[in-house]
Amino acid sequence: MQTGKGDYAFVRKFRDSDLDVVVELANSSLSEYYGVDLIYDLSRQWPDGFLVYQFGNRVVGFLAGAKYSSNEARILLLAVDSSFRKIGIGTTLVEDFTKLCMQLGMMSVRLEVRIDNIEAINFYRKLKFVVISTMRNYYSDSSDAHVMWRLLSQ
Ligand SMILES: CC(C)(COP(=O)(O)OP(=O)(O)OC[C@H]1O[C@@H](n2cnc3c(N)ncnc32)[C@H](O)[C@@H]1OP(=O)(O)O)[C@@H](O)C(=O)NCCC(=O)NCCS
Repeated sequence: MQTGKGDYAFVRKFRDSDLDVVVELANSSLSEYYGVDLIYDLSRQWPDGFLVYQFGNRVVGFLAGAKYSSNEARILLLAVDSSFRKIGIGTTLVEDFTKLCMQLGMMSVRLEVRIDNIEAINFYRKLKFVVISTMRNYYSDSSDAHVMWRLLSQ
Protein backbone atom coordinates (compact mmCIF):
# COMPACT_ATOMS: atom_id res chain seq x y z
CA MET A 1 0.00 0.00 0.00
CA GLN A 2 1.40 3.39 -0.95
CA THR A 3 -0.67 6.56 -0.82
CA GLY A 4 0.10 10.25 -0.57
CA LYS A 5 2.53 12.23 -2.66
CA GLY A 6 3.99 9.59 -4.94
CA ASP A 7 7.48 8.33 -4.23
CA TYR A 8 8.29 11.18 -1.84
CA ALA A 9 5.60 10.81 0.80
CA PHE A 10 3.56 7.70 1.35
CA VAL A 11 2.07 5.24 3.83
CA ARG A 12 3.65 1.82 4.13
CA LYS A 13 3.80 -1.08 6.55
CA PHE A 14 6.14 -0.86 9.54
CA ARG A 15 9.59 -2.43 9.12
CA ASP A 16 11.90 -3.50 11.93
CA SER A 17 14.32 -0.74 10.89
CA ASP A 18 11.60 1.81 11.85
CA LEU A 19 11.57 0.65 15.47
CA ASP A 20 13.79 3.34 17.01
CA VAL A 21 12.11 6.26 15.23
CA VAL A 22 8.63 4.96 16.08
CA VAL A 23 9.58 4.61 19.76
CA GLU A 24 10.92 8.17 19.66
CA LEU A 25 7.75 9.46 17.98
CA ALA A 26 5.56 7.69 20.52
CA ASN A 27 7.43 9.01 23.53
CA SER A 28 7.75 12.56 22.24
CA SER A 29 4.05 12.77 21.26
CA LEU A 30 2.11 10.63 23.73
CA SER A 31 1.83 11.00 27.48
CA GLU A 32 2.34 7.35 28.42
CA TYR A 33 5.79 5.70 28.16
CA TYR A 34 6.19 3.10 25.40
CA GLY A 35 9.31 0.90 25.51
CA VAL A 36 11.05 -0.70 22.55
CA ASP A 37 9.81 -4.17 23.50
CA LEU A 38 6.18 -3.07 23.64
CA ILE A 39 6.32 -1.35 20.23
CA TYR A 40 8.07 -4.38 18.77
CA ASP A 41 5.40 -6.73 20.18
CA LEU A 42 2.63 -4.52 18.73
CA SER A 43 4.28 -4.64 15.31
CA ARG A 44 4.22 -8.45 15.49
CA GLN A 45 0.61 -8.81 16.66
CA TRP A 46 -0.89 -7.43 13.44
CA PRO A 47 1.86 -6.48 10.97
CA ASP A 48 -0.59 -5.27 8.28
CA GLY A 49 -2.24 -2.95 10.81
CA PHE A 50 0.97 -1.16 11.82
CA LEU A 51 1.46 1.72 9.38
CA VAL A 52 4.10 4.42 9.06
CA TYR A 53 4.13 7.62 7.05
CA GLN A 54 7.40 8.11 5.21
CA PHE A 55 8.31 11.64 4.09
CA GLY A 56 11.44 11.58 1.96
CA ASN A 57 13.74 9.19 3.80
CA ARG A 58 12.18 9.95 7.23
CA VAL A 59 9.36 8.28 9.09
CA VAL A 60 7.30 11.18 10.49
CA GLY A 61 4.17 9.42 11.71
CA PHE A 62 2.76 6.03 12.61
CA LEU A 63 -0.44 4.24 13.51
CA ALA A 64 -0.47 0.99 15.49
CA GLY A 65 -3.71 -0.94 15.06
CA ALA A 66 -5.06 -4.08 16.66
CA LYS A 67 -7.95 -6.46 16.08
CA TYR A 68 -10.43 -5.84 18.89
CA SER A 69 -12.82 -8.57 17.73
CA SER A 70 -13.52 -10.38 14.47
CA ASN A 71 -15.35 -7.36 13.05
CA GLU A 72 -13.88 -4.44 15.01
CA ALA A 73 -10.41 -2.89 14.87
CA ARG A 74 -8.77 -0.62 17.39
CA ILE A 75 -6.30 2.24 16.98
CA LEU A 76 -3.83 1.68 19.80
CA LEU A 77 -1.31 4.43 19.05
CA LEU A 78 -1.20 7.31 16.59
CA ALA A 79 1.41 10.05 16.45
CA VAL A 80 2.78 12.54 13.94
CA ASP A 81 6.08 14.41 14.40
CA SER A 82 5.20 17.87 15.75
CA SER A 83 7.01 19.55 12.81
CA PHE A 84 4.77 17.68 10.35
CA ARG A 85 1.33 18.18 11.93
CA LYS A 86 -1.67 19.86 10.30
CA ILE A 87 -0.73 18.88 6.77
CA GLY A 88 -2.98 15.84 6.57
CA ILE A 89 -0.59 13.06 7.65
CA GLY A 90 -2.70 11.88 10.59
CA THR A 91 -5.81 11.88 8.38
CA THR A 92 -4.00 9.84 5.72
CA LEU A 93 -2.86 7.26 8.29
CA VAL A 94 -6.35 6.87 9.76
CA GLU A 95 -8.03 6.70 6.35
CA ASP A 96 -5.58 4.11 5.04
CA PHE A 97 -6.10 2.09 8.22
CA THR A 98 -9.89 2.23 7.90
CA LYS A 99 -9.66 1.20 4.21
CA LEU A 100 -7.59 -1.81 5.25
CA CYS A 101 -10.16 -2.71 7.92
CA MET A 102 -13.01 -2.45 5.40
CA GLN A 103 -11.10 -4.68 2.95
CA LEU A 104 -10.92 -7.25 5.76
CA GLY A 105 -14.69 -7.03 6.29
CA MET A 106 -14.51 -5.20 9.59
CA MET A 107 -17.50 -3.07 10.57
CA SER A 108 -16.06 -0.53 13.00
CA VAL A 109 -12.96 1.01 14.60
CA ARG A 110 -12.57 2.13 18.21
CA LEU A 111 -9.88 3.95 20.16
CA GLU A 112 -9.24 5.57 23.53
CA VAL A 113 -8.20 9.19 23.85
CA ARG A 114 -7.34 11.25 26.91
CA ILE A 115 -10.34 13.46 27.72
CA ASP A 116 -8.16 16.58 27.80
CA ASN A 117 -6.56 15.88 24.40
CA ILE A 118 -8.93 18.27 22.64
CA GLU A 119 -6.86 18.45 19.44
CA ALA A 120 -6.97 14.68 19.00
CA ILE A 121 -10.69 14.48 19.92
CA ASN A 122 -11.52 17.13 17.30
CA PHE A 123 -9.25 15.38 14.80
CA TYR A 124 -11.11 12.10 15.28
CA ARG A 125 -14.52 13.84 15.18
CA LYS A 126 -13.64 15.19 11.74
CA LEU A 127 -12.92 11.60 10.75
CA LYS A 128 -16.46 10.54 11.79
CA PHE A 129 -15.57 9.06 15.19
CA VAL A 130 -18.02 9.68 18.02
CA VAL A 131 -17.55 9.45 21.79
CA ILE A 132 -19.46 6.39 23.02
CA SER A 133 -18.27 6.16 26.62
CA THR A 134 -15.73 7.35 29.17
CA MET A 135 -13.37 5.13 31.15
CA ARG A 136 -12.33 6.43 34.55
CA ASN A 137 -8.68 6.18 35.68
CA TYR A 138 -7.63 4.72 32.34
CA TYR A 139 -4.12 6.19 32.18
CA SER A 140 -1.18 5.68 34.53
CA ASP A 141 -1.69 9.18 36.00
CA SER A 142 -5.37 8.29 36.68
CA SER A 143 -6.66 10.47 33.84
CA ASP A 144 -9.89 9.41 32.16
CA ALA A 145 -10.25 8.28 28.55
CA HIS A 146 -13.05 8.76 26.05
CA VAL A 147 -13.80 5.74 23.93
CA MET A 148 -14.37 6.90 20.35
CA TRP A 149 -15.94 4.71 17.69
CA ARG A 150 -16.60 4.85 13.95
CA LEU A 151 -18.92 2.74 11.86
CA LEU A 152 -16.98 1.90 8.70
CA SER A 153 -19.84 1.81 6.27
CA GLN A 154 -20.38 5.58 6.72
C1 LIG B 1 -3.67 13.98 16.57
C2 LIG B 1 -2.58 13.97 15.49
C3 LIG B 1 -2.18 12.53 15.20
C4 LIG B 1 -3.16 14.60 14.22
O1 LIG B 1 -2.19 14.48 13.20
P1 LIG B 1 -2.05 15.59 12.03
O2 LIG B 1 -1.16 15.00 11.00
O3 LIG B 1 -1.68 16.89 12.61
O4 LIG B 1 -3.55 15.63 11.52
P2 LIG B 1 -4.07 16.26 10.16
O5 LIG B 1 -3.08 17.20 9.59
O6 LIG B 1 -4.54 15.15 9.31
O7 LIG B 1 -5.33 17.04 10.69
C5 LIG B 1 -5.16 17.90 11.81
C6 LIG B 1 -5.65 19.25 11.49
O8 LIG B 1 -4.98 19.78 10.38
C7 LIG B 1 -5.96 20.16 9.39
N1 LIG B 1 -5.37 19.93 8.08
C8 LIG B 1 -5.30 18.79 7.42
N2 LIG B 1 -4.71 18.97 6.23
C9 LIG B 1 -4.38 20.29 6.17
C10 LIG B 1 -3.73 21.09 5.20
N3 LIG B 1 -3.30 20.58 4.04
N4 LIG B 1 -3.53 22.38 5.49
C11 LIG B 1 -3.95 22.89 6.65
N5 LIG B 1 -4.58 22.17 7.60
C12 LIG B 1 -4.79 20.88 7.35
C13 LIG B 1 -7.13 19.30 9.68
O9 LIG B 1 -8.33 19.83 9.14
C14 LIG B 1 -7.10 19.34 11.16
O10 LIG B 1 -7.55 20.61 11.55
P3 LIG B 1 -7.95 20.97 13.03
O11 LIG B 1 -6.75 20.67 13.93
O12 LIG B 1 -8.27 22.42 12.99
O13 LIG B 1 -9.13 20.11 13.38
C15 LIG B 1 -1.33 14.81 15.90
O14 LIG B 1 -1.78 16.08 16.33
C16 LIG B 1 -0.49 14.17 17.00
O15 LIG B 1 0.42 13.38 16.74
N6 LIG B 1 -0.79 14.54 18.27
C17 LIG B 1 -0.03 14.02 19.41
C18 LIG B 1 -0.30 12.56 19.65
C19 LIG B 1 -1.77 12.30 19.88
O16 LIG B 1 -2.46 13.05 20.56
N7 LIG B 1 -2.24 11.17 19.30
C20 LIG B 1 -3.61 10.72 19.44
C21 LIG B 1 -3.74 9.99 20.72
S1 LIG B 1 -5.25 9.08 20.76
